[in-house]
Amino acid sequence: MKKVKKAIIPAAGLGTRFLPATKTVPKELFPLVDRPLLLYVIEEAIAAGIEDIVIVAGRGKTAIEDFFDRSYELEDTLAKSGKTDLLEKISKIKNMANIISIRQKEALGLGHAVLCGAPVIGDEPFAVLLGDEIMLGRPSVTEELCQAYDKTGFSTVAIMEVPESDVSKYGIVKVSPNGSTFKIHNVAEKPSVKEAASRWALPGRYVFESQLFSYLKNTKPGKNGEIQLTDGMNGLAAEGRLYGTTFQAKRFDAGDKFGFLQANIEIGLQHPETSARLKTYLQELTRGWK
Ligand code: UTP
Repeated sequence: MKKVKKAIIPAAGLGTRFLPATKTVPKELFPLVDRPLLLYVIEEAIAAGIEDIVIVAGRGKTAIEDFFDRSYELEDTLAKSGKTDLLEKISKIKNMANIISIRQKEALGLGHAVLCGAPVIGDEPFAVLLGDEIMLGRPSVTEELCQAYDKTGFSTVAIMEVPESDVSKYGIVKVSPNGSTFKIHNVAEKPSVKEAASRWALPGRYVFESQLFSYLKNTKPGKNGEIQLTDGMNGLAAEGRLYGTTFQAKRFDAGDKFGFLQANIEIGLQHPETSARLKTYLQELTRGWK
C-alpha cells in the first residue's frame, strides 16, 4: 500500500468573513504573531511525512506563491547587514517542502478546489488541509490521519463534536462507532440542527484515496452553486470506505475573526518574545472583569 506523501491545501476561498482585509491580502498570509497561517499548516503536513504540497490559490492571491519563492533583495539586504538569524528564517521557507502552485480560476467550492490538485496527486492517497484551520500540538492531526490510513487503507477524516449552535457551520457526519474510530455513513453540508444526523463535524483535515476524484468529477454543483467536498465524500461513504477519527491537537478556525484572535493569543502566549508581556497584559486587562 502506498504511503501518504502528497497533500492539497485549498486556499482559494474569497474570505468574505474577513473583508475588507481580504480584499487584497489572502487570509492564509495573516500573521499569527510573526508567521503566516499557511506556514503552520505546511509544518503540520511536513510533520506527517508529506513531501509534495499542492497549494490551490485563486486570483489576487499571488502573494502566496511569492511567499515560497526567493526574495533576492531582502536576502541580500539581510546578508549585508549581518542579520544572519533573520536570513536563515527567510531562506528556510523556500526549502521546506516541494511546493506546487495551482490556480483555481473561479471559487467554485471546496470540492472543486481539491479536484484542481488531481493532476499532481495521480492515483496516490493524499491529505487535504484547509489553509485557514490551525491545529496546534503533537501528534499533528494529519499525522494521526496518515497513521490511521496506513493501518486500514481507507479514507479517514478528522471529526470533532460541536455544540448545537455551530452545527450549521460545518459538514456533519452520520457515524457509528468502530473501535477507536467511527464509520461514516453519510455527510451533510452545513445542515440545520433539525436535519443534522449528529453533532460530529468536519474541522478541515482529511486523508483520501484517489477514488475521491472520480466522485468529485461527477458531482453537480450543490448548495450555493458550489461543488462540495462533502458530496464527493458521500461516494466513498456509500462504498463503506470512509472513516472518522477524533484528534488530540487544539484547533482554531482562523478564517473566522474570533478563532483568529484566539489562535493569536494562544501562540503569543507561547512565543518567547511576547509570552511574558502578553500574560501580564491579559491579567491587567481582565482584572476586575466579571
Ligand atoms: P470557507 O467556507 O472558509 O470559505 O472555505 P472562504 O471563502 O475561504 O471564507 P469565507 O467563508 O468567505 O469567509 C473553506 C476552505 O475551502 C477553500 C478556502 O480557501 C478554505 O480553506 N475554498 C473554498 C477554496 O479553495 N475554493 C473555493 O471555491 C471555496
